[in-house]
Amino acid sequence: MGVVGCGLMGHGIAQVAAQAGYDVVLVDLKPEFVAKGVAGIERSLAKFVEKKTLADADAKAARARIQTATDNKALAGCDLVVEAIVEDADVKRKLFAELDGIVGPQAILASNTSSIPITLLASATKRPDRFIGMHFMNPVPLMKLVEVIRGADTSDATLATVVAAGQKMGKEVHACRDFPGFISNRVLMPMINEAIFCLNEGVATAEDIDAIMKLGMNHPMGPLQLADFIGLDTCLAILNVLFDGFKDPKYRPCPLLVQKVQAGHLGRKSGRGFYTY
Ligand SMILES: NC(=O)c1ccc[n+]([C@@H]2O[C@H](COP(=O)([O-])OP(=O)(O)OC[C@H]3O[C@@H](n4cnc5c(N)ncnc54)[C@H](O)[C@@H]3O)[C@@H](O)[C@H]2O)c1
Repeated sequence: MGVVGCGLMGHGIAQVAAQAGYDVVLVDLKPEFVAKGVAGIERSLAKFVEKKTLADADAKAARARIQTATDNKALAGCDLVVEAIVEDADVKRKLFAELDGIVGPQAILASNTSSIPITLLASATKRPDRFIGMHFMNPVPLMKLVEVIRGADTSDATLATVVAAGQKMGKEVHACRDFPGFISNRVLMPMINEAIFCLNEGVATAEDIDAIMKLGMNHPMGPLQLADFIGLDTCLAILNVLFDGFKDPKYRPCPLLVQKVQAGHLGRKSGRGFYTY
């Protein structure tokens, strides 16, 4: 299995694949990005060993199954390549066009995109039948779900292979069709956006909105805290995908969310969002 992009998601995907017994080729642009991803994998494996949920020998074997590279040609022998690079359609399409010429004719290409149409990415290749969305959740080693997205031309065989691969990685795999936001973000983001509208209108404080949703709906965290964890820029980008994709005003981003992003208050990663970290 190949993984392109060693960031937050890519290194997690490489780790769970290696733990499942796959030989993995992990690629990023520069050696320092690769090193950072590998350090993340080693830290995570060590934590599982410390918690006694993984034997030391299994952690070492998983680590040994991961090769790294900075050249996409290293992916030539892969049967499945999962892309986890920046959330930019043009950059991803360029990468997929290149990968299409590198991997073998039977290989499957998959994207971990949160919101870009799978059909748009597939059309950058000559194998739209062997192209699919494989949407892992953060943090990958802990989150059970993989949302699999069928593009317009994804074949039944590709879907079956990718569902089996996700299950082998210990995940529960649920499939949907290629519509803006798929299922996860189409349902989640309007809830987060509505919570931001409530805050903007002074209906309640951020703490009260989150407590009401946490305690009343049995959610593990409130929508505003979750937005801070996801990143407010990411939330805004996904809402814009929904708004543009459906042309329905119900997805319009709350002006308070737009303003937070303009101010650089992006949530936990910038130290400030709806809360201060
Ligand atoms: N962060 C999340 O919670 C989350 C959840 C689900 C899906 N996603 C999606 O996963 C993808 C990656 O997100 P992330 O949070 O891991 O991002 P990130 O910024 O942590 O990592 C992206 C990595 O890709 C590398 N990269 C960029 N362009 C590249 C190229 N052309 N070739 C090789 N490597 C390249 C970067 O150097 C970086 O290491 C995005 O599409 C995102 O929407 C993210």
